[in-house]
Parts: sequence; structure tokens; C-alpha cells
Amino acid sequence: MNRNLLASCLSLLLFEAYGFVELEITVPSGTIIGSYGQVLILPCTFQVGGSWDLRSTVITWQRGLDVVHSFYYSRDQLDRQNPLYAKRTSLFNREMARGNASLRLDGVTPKDAGVYTCSISTNFGSRKKSFGVNIAAFYSEPRLQFSVLNDGVNLLVTSEGGHPSPTLQWLIENSEDITNQTQTHLMQDTHTGLYSVSSWINLTEVTNSSLTFILSNNLLGQNIRREIQLSSDKREKQTEPAQRCQGCFSLIPFILLMFVLIIMVLVFAVRRNLTKQNSFNKKQHMDQTQALNGTV
Ligand SMILES: *[C@@H]1O[C@H](CO)[C@@H](O)[C@H](O)[C@H]1NC(C)=O
Ligand SMILES: *[C@@H]1O[C@H](CO)[C@@H](O)[C@H](O)[C@H]1NC(C)=O
Ligand SMILES: *[C@@H]1O[C@H](CO)[C@@H](O)[C@H](O)[C@H]1NC(C)=O
Ligand SMILES: *[C@@H]1O[C@H](CO)[C@@H](O)[C@H](O)[C@H]1NC(C)=O
Repeated sequence: MNRNLLASCLSLLLFEAYGFVELEITVPSGTIIGSYGQVLILPCTFQVGGSWDLRSTVITWQRGLDVVHSFYYSRDQLDRQNPLYAKRTSLFNREMARGNASLRLDGVTPKDAGVYTCSISTNFGSRKKSFGVNIAAFYSEPRLQFSVLNDGVNLLVTSEGGHPSPTLQWLIENSEDITNQTQTHLMQDTHTGLYSVSSWINLTEVTNSSLTFILSNNLLGQNIRREIQLSSDKREKQTEPAQRCQGCFSLIPFILLMFVLIIMVLVFAVRRNLTKQNSFNKKQHMDQTQALNGTV
């Protein structure tokens, strides 16, 4: 402890003696989050004094070993810039005299995520500091799709355009976790780096219940929670024949009445026919007798 203190005092003394104090620079203390497709400013400030000289200032932004942007001889020097960053970076030159070495990065995508280092060298000294950058995108409103299988129903939920990969959860009746009865497929677009997710469950038996689908993008605090109400009319189907029969029962008196009426009409018609035939027969008989009488 004492020796450490002594060492730091000594180094401080040495710096003072050479008139050279380590440059103070400031970068974010944690990871910063950029929004997909938007401008992201990577903050970095350095200490400037009265005798600060632009011409002896070198600002270099790197991600790992890749050069993101560099500035020296009072201007941008981009011949060693990584092509991924071409025409997407700029420094705030007017702010530089105030110690602002922040980098503006346009149209960020998940490919820009990583650890960035801001290195500054001026006539006061030099220093570099690093911080993390993550790119996030919101997942779209999930789409729900039902398809009927031979032995049940397939329930499919899809959502696109998010980053990073989501966490998914399925609940039944808002409590029981049934995530491991479901299947999930995650796809990353090679061009944009964004994810599409689809998750499905096969229900062999649909009962009156509620299913809850939860999709979270933890980086953004996005939490999509959708409840799906399932209802089955199976019981109604079972009671349907009975209801039909009840209908039949209420029809029975009517049908009986109609039946009786038809019978009555038929009987009446038959009887009328019979009496007609009888009278005809009688008439014929009489004619015959008359004829017989005539011939006599
Ligand atoms: C640097 O300047 C830019 C442009 O005015 C500003 O948006 C940014 O906040 C400044 N950064 C710091 C750390 O002051
Ligand atoms: C499903 O998850 C539960 C815990 O949530 C676990 O106890 C059970 O073994 C899992 N079932 C299968 C089939 O993986
Ligand atoms: C659901 O059913 C389809 C078609 O029968 C099958 O391909 C799929 O693997 C099933 N999924 C689950 C989670 O059981
Ligand atoms: C489900 O609920 C509906 C009305 O909400 C009801 O008519 C039906 O009988 C119920 N089905 C079962 C299987 O409980």
C-alpha cells in the first residue's frame, strides 16, 4: 500500500519534472446502445488548455484493430479506414477546440457492435480509452396464425426485425410455463443482422383456456405480451343432436296433425269416389234393366 503510494507519487513527480501530465480523456463508463438505422454518437472528450494546438492533435477511433476514423495534420485521414465505415463517420471539428472528439456514426447496424477505442494525442500528452457499443432494434408486433392439423391445431407466432435475439416464453392460464412444449426458430438476416423469430405449439385438444405469448428484448426493455383466448364448442356439439331432437319433439304434434288431416282428406276422397262409383254402378244397372226392358 505504502509502496504503491510512493510509486504513484514518484511517477507524478517525474511527470511534473518533465512538464508532461498524462492526458485526461473521458468516454462512457458502460456500453452504449445504438438504435438500428439511426445516428449514434460515440462520446469522447479530452482535456484542452490555453496552449492546445490543433496541428499536433491526433484523434483515432478504432474497433478492435479496425480503423473507424482518424484525424491528424488538422484534417480527416481516411485512407486506412475500414470499408465498413466508409462515408458513415465524422468528427465535430468545430467542437474540437473544446475537447470534443466524439464520433458521429450514421446508419448503425448490428455489424457495428463491439468495443471502440478513442485514442487522443495532443501537445499535452496522449491517452486511449475503450467502451462497448451494442445495437438494438425493436421486434415487430407479433402475427398469429392458426392451422388445422389432422389431430389438432397448430398455433404459430412470428415477429421480425429485432436485435439482439429475444427471449420467449409461453404460459397457459397465465401461470404454468409450457415453453418446452413449443418449438422456436430463430433466423438472422445476413444483410441487416436483424432477427426473425417464429414459435409454435401444437394443441391436440383445444379446451377453454388462455395461452400467453411473451417476447422480450432485454436490451431495450421491450416486452410484448399477448394473450390468446382459446374456446372449444365441443360440449355444444355434443348437445346439438339433443337440441335437434327437442326441435323434432316440438314438431311432432304438428306432423301428427298434418298426418291426421291428410288421412282424413284421403278417406274423404276415397269415400266420395266409392259413392260416385256406387251411383254409377246403380245407374248402369238401371240402364241395363231399362235396355233389357226395351228389348223385351
Ligand atoms: C460533441 O459535439 C456534438 C455536436 O455538437 C454534441 O452532439 C456532443 O454531445 C458533444 N459531445 C460531448 C461529449 O460534449
Ligand atoms: C419442461 O420444463 C420444466 C421446468 O420448467 C422441466 O421440469 C421439465 O422437465 C421440462 N420438460 C421437458 C419435456 O423438457
Ligand atoms: C406440430 O405439427 C407439425 C405437423 O404435424 C409438426 O411438423 C411439428 O413438428 C409439430 N410441432 C410440435 C411442437 O410438436
Ligand atoms: C367453452 O365456453 C363456451 C362459452 O364461453 C361454452 O359454450 C362451452 O360449452 C365451453 N366449452 C367447454 C368444453 O367447456
